[in-house]
Amino acid sequence: MTKKLLRALAGETLPTPPIWMMRQAGRYLPEYRATRAKAGDFLTLCYTPDLAAEVTLQPIRRYGFDAAILFADILLVPQALGVDLWFAEGEGPRLSTVTTPGEVAALKPAEAIHEPLAPVYETVRILARELPDETALIGFAGAPWTVATYMIAGRGTPDQGPAHALKAADRATFDALLARLTAATIEYLSAQIEAGAEVVKLFDSWAGSLSGADFEACAVAPAREIITALKGRHPEVPVIAFPREAGAGYAGFARATGADCVALDNSVSPEWAAAQVQVDGCVQGNLAPGHMVTGGQKLVDETRAIVRAFSGGPHIFNLGHGITPDADPGNVALMVETVRESRSAS
Ligand code: CP3
Repeated sequence: MTKKLLRALAGETLPTPPIWMMRQAGRYLPEYRATRAKAGDFLTLCYTPDLAAEVTLQPIRRYGFDAAILFADILLVPQALGVDLWFAEGEGPRLSTVTTPGEVAALKPAEAIHEPLAPVYETVRILARELPDETALIGFAGAPWTVATYMIAGRGTPDQGPAHALKAADRATFDALLARLTAATIEYLSAQIEAGAEVVKLFDSWAGSLSGADFEACAVAPAREIITALKGRHPEVPVIAFPREAGAGYAGFARATGADCVALDNSVSPEWAAAQVQVDGCVQGNLAPGHMVTGGQKLVDETRAIVRAFSGGPHIFNLGHGITPDADPGNVALMVETVRESRSAS
């Protein structure tokens, strides 16, 4: 029996959608906090295969999600390319910046990432062995634009201002950085697949700040290049693309890039997305993560409405973005139960 997530990704309309959750291994879970404390810090957790596999498995044990997502971070790739990376407690990521032609040229070649990222591939191998038969294993990487926004600014930014400024001031350097990241991402995702990932997801968390020709050049084109290369090497492995907050840009994104599924944030209505995006294949999403904090009947109603809106085609239930640390684990259980009972109730 093929795994439910893989059936949806292959285009099947199922009686109830498979479900998993972005950031499902995370600080809202007491067992995550305990393992994170044992590791000492976030990056050590990412680079210790036994512990990274353990936190990946925790939400599967608790909720029986249809997919596990590898525990790692999109910023491990710039670190493997030679950038300094650290997490300032409570402040998010910090990186040494890459903004000049010399700094881009000094990045290591794409193939050099495999040695520092070997522990991540080992985590994938452990998970491929230990996951229940019905649970699919998702690998992932950040999309070039999103990763570049962190490398250019040296940190997360509300409007990706520094990356937009470099794009305007020195397009050649900016393009060279995106090209380096595109090549490294192809290498990284291929290696995850070879280690046992059955699906890969490309996170373009800041795609929403790109418009017009920039959206095409910085979000669509790199995704197409990555997906084309992956399909050449591993034609059977489905790809989920998440151009977060792309709005109208979600329409046609799968056709333009070759993605098997487009993940939707909660700023688009499921009715709109069913008509404009799901017509091209599987979609994933898109409950507002805030419901995992507030819960109650609104969570149930909203979950049912999303399942219903997407019930005419292939759908993977998920949040519109990652679950937040203040979420109540009981609300996650309520969401899972509601999704699994949804079709009989509608
Ligand atoms: O989804 C999962 O459960 C898989 C693991 C995963 C993490 N980060 C673990 C993590 C994935 C897929 C990511 C992706 C990621 N990382 C993105 C893209 C998706 C998105 O959320 O938009 C981005 C932009 C990052 C970069 C990053 N990593 C930031 C900005 C932060 C700090 C934010 C925060 O909540 O503190 C991280 C840290 C991080 N990555 C945590 C986790 C569980 C929290 C770390 C901790 O335990 O303190």
